[in-house]
Amino acid sequence: MEKLEMLYEGKAKRVYKTNKPDIFHIVYKDDATAFNGVKKGTILDKGAVNNQMSAIIFEMLETKGVPTHFVELLNEREMLVKAVEILPIEVIVRNIAAGSLAKRLGLDEGTVMNETVLEFCYKNDDLGDPMINDYHVAAMKLATAEQVETIKKYAFMINKELVTYFEARNIKLVDFKIEFGVYKGEVILADEISPDTCRLWDAETDKKLDKDRFRRDLGDVEDAYQEVLSRLK
Ligand code: TMP
Ligand code: ASP
Repeated sequence: MEKLEMLYEGKAKRVYKTNKPDIFHIVYKDDATAFNGVKKGTILDKGAVNNQMSAIIFEMLETKGVPTHFVELLNEREMLVKAVEILPIEVIVRNIAAGSLAKRLGLDEGTVMNETVLEFCYKNDDLGDPMINDYHVAAMKLATAEQVETIKKYAFMINKELVTYFEARNIKLVDFKIEFGVYKGEVILADEISPDTCRLWDAETDKKLDKDRFRRDLGDVEDAYQEVLSRLK
């Protein structure tokens, strides 16, 4: 497959066209941002970790019946994916209170939620990805009612599979953000699943093994990313 012109450069990845119109070529970058781009930096080899981890997780989820955009791992930092149209909804799933949820509801970080919490945000950097609900999604035509039902079904399936998968690797899945795209009329999981987009705590020590180390200047950022990947391999 030939890599052609760049279609889009995001904060963490570059997306290129290929000579097949239904396949994109993704290059994962080491650039890191937080707080909607206010904090900027580099996490050495983050791109390599996020690319390989996403590939491992997407392959696992496919075996559990979750369709994903993943096609093929090309090398450490690059993969081929299905050419989806991303739905402008960030889907957040939470098992344990942390981050913005802990702040918003006055919960201590680490409080186990009695039920899994699902949130939607409108994917719009200029607005800082504001939280929305099903009614906003419908009123703004961000997705159809059927697509929303599919997204919810997959989000809970993904959470169940990921919790079990990480537990077996001595990691607590605190929360995560996923994005879906439409490919040939079907809703499929897209974007990435990585320490950038999940909160992952060591099961014994609660040590944060994710991007919160960068967001909160906790140090050992690179080591944490490598540690997660090594536990998945
Ligand atoms: P939050 O607590 O800051 O709302 O984050 C919830 C989860 O979503 C956490 O695992 C980090 C992830 N996330 C992203 O992947 N991208 C984002 O832009 C934000 C705000 C959160
Ligand atoms: N990824 C978001 C940003 O670039 C926020 C975050 O992950 O904290 O600002």
